[in-house]
Amino acid sequence: MLVLGIETSCDETAAAVVTGEREILADVVLSQLDEHRPFGGIVPEIAARSHLEHLDRLVVEAMARAGVTFAELDAVAATGGPGLIGGVIVGVMTAKAIALAAGKSFLAVNHLEGHALTARLTHGIAFPYLLLLVSGGHCQLLAVEGVGRYRRLGTTIDDAAGEAFDKVAKMVGLGYPGGPAVERAAAQGDPARFALPRPMKGRPGCDFSFSGLKNAVRLLVESLPQPLSGRDAADVAAGFQAAVAGSVADRTARAIREFRERWPEGRHLVVAGGVAANSLLRAILQTVASENGLEFLAPPLRLCTDNAAMIAWAGVERLRLGLTDGLEFAPRPRWPLDPTARKVGGAGVKA
Ligand code: KG4
Ligand code: ZN
Repeated sequence: MLVLGIETSCDETAAAVVTGEREILADVVLSQLDEHRPFGGIVPEIAARSHLEHLDRLVVEAMARAGVTFAELDAVAATGGPGLIGGVIVGVMTAKAIALAAGKSFLAVNHLEGHALTARLTHGIAFPYLLLLVSGGHCQLLAVEGVGRYRRLGTTIDDAAGEAFDKVAKMVGLGYPGGPAVERAAAQGDPARFALPRPMKGRPGCDFSFSGLKNAVRLLVESLPQPLSGRDAADVAAGFQAAVAGSVADRTARAIREFRERWPEGRHLVVAGGVAANSLLRAILQTVASENGLEFLAPPLRLCTDNAAMIAWAGVERLRLGLTDGLEFAPRPRWPLDPTARKVGGAGVKA
């Protein structure tokens, strides 16, 4: 089985070719970081235009690297949502056009399902497993029961974890994107100098919250001499990172206990999403998993952040089950993995 995958839901334009035997034949990613950096965040209009400008070339490049022709494909999969709608439209229209012209199946993949199934591509693990999805737009704990079958155990009631990293980076003057900058600064800092709250720690359930912590950091920064010295910035970054990791560890430990009760045959805790690149978080999750009886798995960094290999792979999984889509599929700005989960938080919460 051979599937071409396309990802355009955020600020990475990507195309990949993946086989049913879990081989990634090509995986091309073009980051738009430099185009958005002057604005300190992602500008949807710029993102959509940039996807439109680069996607055809990336598809041609991925096909050439894989050494396959459109005629040899079984299907074309594209992210159908959730995400910035202009970009999703570009990817979906491109995939539909290729599928129609080459007479292949079209698959609209939920971007979150792409992240959720990546560990089956990289490690071949069986269902069910527990997934912590931590990115710029999401922070969720999900029991992955099968393709298209997700039970949400917890989600953020306000900001996503990556969003908090990005905002804190701005407050301490570290630029965009914030996560990697905060991690680099934190490596030079003392996490114990400033006492910051571990949001939700000890509370029932597995939900997250980061806006209180973000405000605590804002007040702390305002109380320090301006502009912040390098030492102060590093100590704030280290304190914030430790608080996020402590909070995520507490929530994940609770989710593992619930998961093991309801899905006793499950063996793995999997992490995915951009924030999964954080080494402190990875180390803490490793400990939490082993203390609570699960094996910890983290896909390689380039498959944690947005890419098309995960979309092609989700396409393989769906194609095997005959879950193809018609060309009438309409891109979806919102698309929760667990439609039965209750709505939480305010207007800013994405799923
Ligand atoms: O999954 P992703 O690439 O894009 C989506 O949001 O879908 O995640 C991007 C987020 C950003 O908020 C970025 O600051 C954060 O992941 N991030 C990190 C690190 N690397 C990226 N956060 C903490 N530590 C990192 N090393
Ligand atoms: Zn993503």
